[in-house]
Amino acid sequence: MKELKEWFVPWLFTAREYDASILDKAWANPDYGRLMLNENPIPPSEKVVKAVTEAVKKGNRYPDSMKALRTKIGKMYELGPDNVALCNGSSEVIDVMMRLFLQPGDEIIMSTPTFGLFPPRAELCGGKVVQIPLREGDLQYDVEGMLGAINEKTKLILIINPNNPSGVFIDDADLKRFCETGIPLCIDEAYRDYHPEFSSKAPLIKEYPNVFLSVTLSKAHGFAGIRFGYVLGTEEMINAFNTMFLPWNVNLMSMAAAEAILDNPEEIQEKVKHNNNWMDTFYSELKKLGLNPFKAHGNYMLVDATMTGKTTSEILQAALEMEKIYLKRIGEIHGKTGYFRVTPGLDEENERFMRFINNYFG
Ligand SMILES: Cc1ncc(COP(=O)(O)O)c(C=O)c1O
Repeated sequence: MKELKEWFVPWLFTAREYDASILDKAWANPDYGRLMLNENPIPPSEKVVKAVTEAVKKGNRYPDSMKALRTKIGKMYELGPDNVALCNGSSEVIDVMMRLFLQPGDEIIMSTPTFGLFPPRAELCGGKVVQIPLREGDLQYDVEGMLGAINEKTKLILIINPNNPSGVFIDDADLKRFCETGIPLCIDEAYRDYHPEFSSKAPLIKEYPNVFLSVTLSKAHGFAGIRFGYVLGTEEMINAFNTMFLPWNVNLMSMAAAEAILDNPEEIQEKVKHNNNWMDTFYSELKKLGLNPFKAHGNYMLVDATMTGKTTSEILQAALEMEKIYLKRIGEIHGKTGYFRVTPGLDEENERFMRFINNYFG
């Protein structure tokens, strides 16, 4: 008789893993600052809590496709309700886009480093991940390198805008070059709400049917645990996503929470202000210490501390021991160790981070 493992699809054993074990540690140690995940440190408002409480009372019923909510979201981008598919956080887009476009052996082009969930989800469909390093220095996308990697097996391209972990926006002209390939292009705008002065790239959908956008409420809106996101695309693209998404993929409580916060933009603005103020403070403090922080546009700052001679592991360990704060491990970039990423937390946690960098690097 065959052993159980022989029944599984082969890519189950070859795909990279997304290691989420840090979450178990963080929940088990609530006195440690969670500055390693791109979460929002501010809990939902009473308005959101009330909406969720009302929705749970109808929790015996299956949710519908929430046309009113899709209409509201569509209007934010001058699109219609049928240009919007709702989902259970944008991780679901990451998963479903691979299943929509990749057959075993097909390729997706993205940068490295990138958000760590993308490669495993492609590999779990038997897809091949082609990763092009960010440019040295400004850590912008290597547009020539990515375009040059296109071949007949390329079925999908990913641009995170602003990028994670570098935090930079791509130039419009460069983005258009990807649109014009005609290859399905995911523009992930998970962090754009931190800088709404950079307009959404949603209008590109009208010109380029191969383009779709992925948006989440996990970041500026603070819904990482509530789970809510959406895809924007042509009706044909949205139909395809809806076919691949499970029906009732978004629960009633998440939809009610989304509706409540979208009706209350002050809540989002307050959270954005808290984040952006601390990002500025971190930036100037890190600079003063001779480190090289990247002027990031999300809720995270990539820091180049390679000039200190400390390894990333040493820095992360010291932060835990000295101030009980988790920082994000960033692998080697261009062969160098000593990068880490930090996300602003609550004021008190951020004070601990400032004390840490001053005592450790000062
Ligand atoms: C670029 C990017 N996209 C998507 C996600 C996933 O977000 P969620 O599934 O919480 O919506 C993240 C999370 O950090 C991210 O960095």
